[in-house]
Amino acid sequence: MINTERLLVLYGSQTFTAQEIAERIWRTTKVLGFKGPVQAMDDYSISKLIHEEFALFVCSTTGQGDEPDNMKRFWKFLLRKNLPSNSLVKLKFGVIGLGDSSYTKFNFVAKKLHKRLIQLGATPILDLGLCDYQHDLGHDAILSPWLKDFLSIIKTYFPNIPTDTIKSSFVPRWKVSLIKTENHENGATFNEDIYFRNGRKDHFLDTSYFEVEKNIRTTDETHFQDVRLITLKVCEDKLLDYKPGDVFNIRPRNSKEDVDDLFDIFDTHNLDIKPYYRLKVEQCHDGK
Ligand SMILES: Cc1cc2nc3c(=O)[nH]c(=O)nc-3n(C[C@H](O)[C@H](O)[C@H](O)COP(=O)(O)O)c2cc1C
Repeated sequence: MINTERLLVLYGSQTFTAQEIAERIWRTTKVLGFKGPVQAMDDYSISKLIHEEFALFVCSTTGQGDEPDNMKRFWKFLLRKNLPSNSLVKLKFGVIGLGDSSYTKFNFVAKKLHKRLIQLGATPILDLGLCDYQHDLGHDAILSPWLKDFLSIIKTYFPNIPTDTIKSSFVPRWKVSLIKTENHENGATFNEDIYFRNGRKDHFLDTSYFEVEKNIRTTDETHFQDVRLITLKVCEDKLLDYKPGDVFNIRPRNSKEDVDDLFDIFDTHNLDIKPYYRLKVEQCHDGK
């Protein structure tokens, strides 16, 4: 019997579906009493993987059979030729892949990951799960029974986990607290872009600023769906370089007017939230 109920949940996700599913699974495991984080593969310190005993991987396939951006480093590391074939002997794992069978390289990433983990000595506790977006019930058609199997197998290693008495409490991934600082900055930095501040760029490749040039409703006003044709204009003097299969992520920003309105609403309702207060965001999990 194993006493440290640690289960690592890692994801590789391009457009957040795998991340959302990984977080949902992680919440279920928390309610059951498991410890350990949910993280993007590239945010996880991979040198620790040799010490892990149980892990669940959720990964999608993007491009033409490519890994999502937030698991590229992790995957490159796993592919190193000098890794001994017993590197991951301690690890027991499950891989659930998200894909779309209309692509020729259906669920390529999950298949490759599953195979490589075995090559490195890890033991799958159940078959690879291959979710298909084309299924009438979407990913859930495969995901739900796969997860049920995964949990019932993992329970055999942890008989103390009370799977029958699942509490219904919500377990958040993030803990957010307000730090009421003094206003030293005279508002100067409040409108700075958190993604691009001081020339910094986030980990997404080749980020660019765009302005909305046109935003036209294409469906009739009387129709219940509001479908838009949005035209974006590159703000910088640069040409966009892209090829078929590339993914374009848009991160909208709130306008200054909207932000000002929000703080006016706080003020009107006597809510003590000022623009210069800071938010501290921490992961709630207890495992590192
Ligand atoms: C641009 C693009 C390329 C894709 N390429 C593949 C592919 O090669 N093989 C596959 O099985 N699914 C492919 N898919 C389907 C995605 O894997 C599927 O929609 C998945 O749910 C996306 O998960 P994510 O949001 O976590 O990235 C692709 C989807 C998009 C949008």
